[in-house]
Amino acid sequence: MKRSVIPTQAKNDAQFVKHIVSHYEKYGRHELVWRTKITPYRILVSEIMLQQTQVSRVLPKYQTWMKLYPTLFRLGEASFTDVLKLWQGLGYQRRAKALHEIARNVKALPKSYAELLKLKGIGPYTASAILAFAYDVFPDHLVETNIRTALIEAFHQGETNIHDGKLYDDLARLHKLASVQKLGARHFYYALMDYGAYLKSEKISHNIKSAHYSRQSPYIGSVRQLRAKILFAIAHKEKLPSDERAQSVLEKLIEEKYIVERKGGYAIVE
Ligand code: ADE
Repeated sequence: MKRSVIPTQAKNDAQFVKHIVSHYEKYGRHELVWRTKITPYRILVSEIMLQQTQVSRVLPKYQTWMKLYPTLFRLGEASFTDVLKLWQGLGYQRRAKALHEIARNVKALPKSYAELLKLKGIGPYTASAILAFAYDVFPDHLVETNIRTALIEAFHQGETNIHDGKLYDDLARLHKLASVQKLGARHFYYALMDYGAYLKSEKISHNIKSAHYSRQSPYIGSVRQLRAKILFAIAHKEKLPSDERAQSVLEKLIEEKYIVERKGGYAIVE
């Protein structure tokens, strides 16, 4: 798709907002399922899934997840083995555990930033995303990779080692614009995120200028890969590798309460 909106350094805040909003109106990802039907729970699940996984890989999992676990209550009723099996393919299983534990521990998601942050697995980004996308409230710390790219492109070209604090300041300034207040938090942040995603699709990525950038280490041959292999083998009751590396991964999984020793083998902690 050829787009008429060319990325440029922002002349001023109002012009930048106009630019991203017009981009969003023409090319925004309006149809994303977590945007068309909104509940705090649906936003939580989508944001946790999207943290380290691409939209295209999240979409089919998300649809299945919502069929099986449409509410926090239903998720809390599920066994962790079933949740884990569904998570397979998304990576970083800690996120599945965090979601399941939240469902087991709370009846409804809190509405305040401070209360959201108390839940294990919810950090400043996720708490802010819930405020903006579920409750349409302007948050203080909503910066992820796409938003970082959009803000650096607009306001920090030529800089390096840019701390997110600077970007939070940009956002606080933008929030004060009448045009942004009129749009509301949800609409503004969808537009900003999609503009950043568009820049990246055009190979404009400013992540290395961020002080918070770290390259993901290779997966193949990693402990992360072995850990996933072992965890899913236990969930599916399959044979486990028995070398020394596997042994140390098993010990760690026990320590972290993912698994327990049972009847000479291992079982998932439900
Ligand atoms: N829409 C809402 N949150 C999103 C995210 N984290 N990534 C992509 N699209 C989104």
